[in-house]
Amino acid sequence: MDKIKIIGGNPLFGKIYISGAKNAALPIICASLLTDEPVTIKNLPFLSDIKSLNALLLQLGTQIEEKQEDYNGHLTNSITYHTPKPTSLIAPYDYVRKMRASYYVLGPLLAKYGHVELSLPGGCAIGARPMDIHLSSLEQMGAKIEIKNGYVVADIDGRLRGARVSFHSASVGATCNILMAAALAEGTTIIENAAKEPEIADLINLLTDMGAVIEGINTSTLTIHGVEKLHGATHYIVNDRIEAGSYAVAAAMTKGRLELINADADFLQTPLDILRKTGVKVETTPNSIIVDAQNAVLQGQDIYTDYYPGFPTDLQAQFMALMCIASGAAMVTESIWENRFMHVPELMRMGANINVHGHASAIVRGVEKLSAAPVMSTDLRASFALILAGLVAEGETIVNRVYHLDRGYEHLEEKFKAVGANIERIKEPD
Ligand code: UD1
Repeated sequence: MDKIKIIGGNPLFGKIYISGAKNAALPIICASLLTDEPVTIKNLPFLSDIKSLNALLLQLGTQIEEKQEDYNGHLTNSITYHTPKPTSLIAPYDYVRKMRASYYVLGPLLAKYGHVELSLPGGCAIGARPMDIHLSSLEQMGAKIEIKNGYVVADIDGRLRGARVSFHSASVGATCNILMAAALAEGTTIIENAAKEPEIADLINLLTDMGAVIEGINTSTLTIHGVEKLHGATHYIVNDRIEAGSYAVAAAMTKGRLELINADADFLQTPLDILRKTGVKVETTPNSIIVDAQNAVLQGQDIYTDYYPGFPTDLQAQFMALMCIASGAAMVTESIWENRFMHVPELMRMGANINVHGHASAIVRGVEKLSAAPVMSTDLRASFALILAGLVAEGETIVNRVYHLDRGYEHLEEKFKAVGANIERIKEPD
């Protein structure tokens, strides 16, 4: 297991290119299963989560052709997915265990081939992560669903039927799965209380290019008029707002100035407002965000995570790291996941002053300085928070178990090194 070593104290200056969004790429790759024609996806990030999903699709019989392309001087990945005839309709435990978002094969395989067996993903470090909305919506669309030996076994006679489904939570995963299933259903499906994250709009854009008929993009009511067949398309993945938000915090904490290229400020309005209130200068252009904290006196701000356009839960840990060195107190409330404060004990080992109240809130009282320590990554975003703490801590921080970071941050050390961080990966034999 690799480790990352950081010597804190360097302010970060320069430009960072923001990659394609992992959370848009995962459902979009699975949408390629809705057609027997090739689907080419550009601007894919080089991440272990994408590799894990590719391994599952290969196992289903998808042909995958990968090539690297220059986009504005930045090397990106372009992959063509072609599934003329699947060789399996089973998503086995070993694949789903590695990558929960493997559940995005459920809607497409069921809608196109009438049968799917998906290992139930179960919970993960940040919470229970149920799938009840995905399954009950498919049942309302005519699917017969059983849970057998840890697998969801789903069947339909003929085609799925359009239905009006109302989600009890605005789930990103369920919105994507039901959008994909409804695209090939007979009749019209209406999703009420759909999630509105920009990654969903990206999926809708691809599905529309494939021939789907969808109304209500960027709203919480989506209407999908099912069609009999979808065709191939080429799609460019939207930029990763969570990666951009994470590096914005790095500029703020190190009192540097970073220009985040290929970032869309519209997707980050709530977190950027918080950064401004913290005392950081934030300027935006149509495709970049400039975060300047050179003269900032950081002031703690409360954070409440919520569905988009609220504050993203996937930036909670990074902003908590920022509040650790801001003056005053900041109340951080996590409303989406029940166990998303695992970074707290690790930040406290570095000298942070945090009090957790129950499962949902924490009071962070800013300290003058953090001090380096060996710490442990617990999940993807928590790991980035520890890197941030290491960048401003006195001394040498070692972040263990960095495979979490490789799931979601492309070329992390290279991006940080290029803007002046003292960071390196220590490779350990497997
Ligand atoms: C996605 C993101 C994840 C992010 C989360 C919330 C991907 C691959 N992952 O996860 O990074 O933290 O959105 O923005 O895009 N829920 C149910 N029943 C369900 C489904 C969800 O009760 O059937 C609840 C969950 O417990 C949670 C809330 O709905 O409290 C949001 O979950 P959801 O949006 O589905 O998260 P994911 O799609 O798994």
